[in-house]
Amino acid sequence: MIDVLLSGCNGRMGQAVVSQCGPAGPRIVAGYDQSAVKQNDFPVYDSFSLIAEAADLVIDFSHISATPAVLAYCQAKGLPLVLCTTGIKGDLEAKVLAAAAAIPIFKSFNMSLGISLLLSLARQAAKVLGDTCDIEIIEKHHNQKLDAPSGTALMIADAAAAGLNFQAEYIRDRGLRQSKRGRGEIGIHSVRGGAIVGEHEAMFICPQEIISISHSAQSREIFARGAVKAAGFLLGKKPGIYTMDDLVNSLIQ
Ligand SMILES: NC(=O)c1ccc[n+]([C@@H]2O[C@H](COP(=O)([O-])OP(=O)(O)OC[C@H]3O[C@@H](n4cnc5c(N)ncnc54)[C@H](O)[C@@H]3O)[C@@H](O)[C@H]2O)c1
Repeated sequence: MIDVLLSGCNGRMGQAVVSQCGPAGPRIVAGYDQSAVKQNDFPVYDSFSLIAEAADLVIDFSHISATPAVLAYCQAKGLPLVLCTTGIKGDLEAKVLAAAAAIPIFKSFNMSLGISLLLSLARQAAKVLGDTCDIEIIEKHHNQKLDAPSGTALMIADAAAAGLNFQAEYIRDRGLRQSKRGRGEIGIHSVRGGAIVGEHEAMFICPQEIISISHSAQSREIFARGAVKAAGFLLGKKPGIYTMDDLVNSLIQ
């Protein structure tokens, strides 16, 4: 059984992870959250310095404002980290990479196996159609989501760009531009509303045909289940960055 410290335990995703734990799955020994609104079967702290419980690993679904503290705690305790919080870039991304020199970090902006498949298909589609098609990505999420575009939309853009034989330029603000579409553009568009769990569509728009690859998350459980699976995969690994590709490859070997 894996003993987990759950960061962001009182949020929507934190509670989805709680529902994945139990007699058969991992056990949550403590939580970290700045909000105390939820009742849990484990103690919840608003500071890492207060945590006395010993864990095997940390799962984080919180916010980028918590990431430096999460990284510092994992490094100080030598704990592997399943880092699921989105919006990590720039200096924070550099901090994550630096921490991965000392501890294993599993990092994915989307913990769903289905999205992993979509990424691989998007790479293939760009390779085959990239010379003639325009690539546009549309993502839709609930009205409480803080970051835009979604981390997953950027992962899809990166996957498509990796399949192209020219440098792609990501365009997130087409509405502000009054110009024709450039050749190397990948457009990324965000829709926010209601309770949409997460929808992503990659469109490969050719002169005479449109190829569209889409994924619709029906419930947050898919991400929570993926995070728990990643935790099992990460335990005992050497320091470094691990991704869904590594997990998927380990499942098909
Ligand atoms: N990788 C994935 O597959 C995946 C899937 C869904 C959501 N996410 C990401 O996970 C994160 C959480 O999503 P959510 O929908 O549960 O959000 P949420 O707002 O419902 O929950 C976030 C929780 O983190 C806590 N928190 C925020 N800042 C904190 C801080 N500085 N210190 C301590 N606690 C803090 C909040 O109190 C809250 O309980 C977001 O970044 C979201 O984009 C990732």
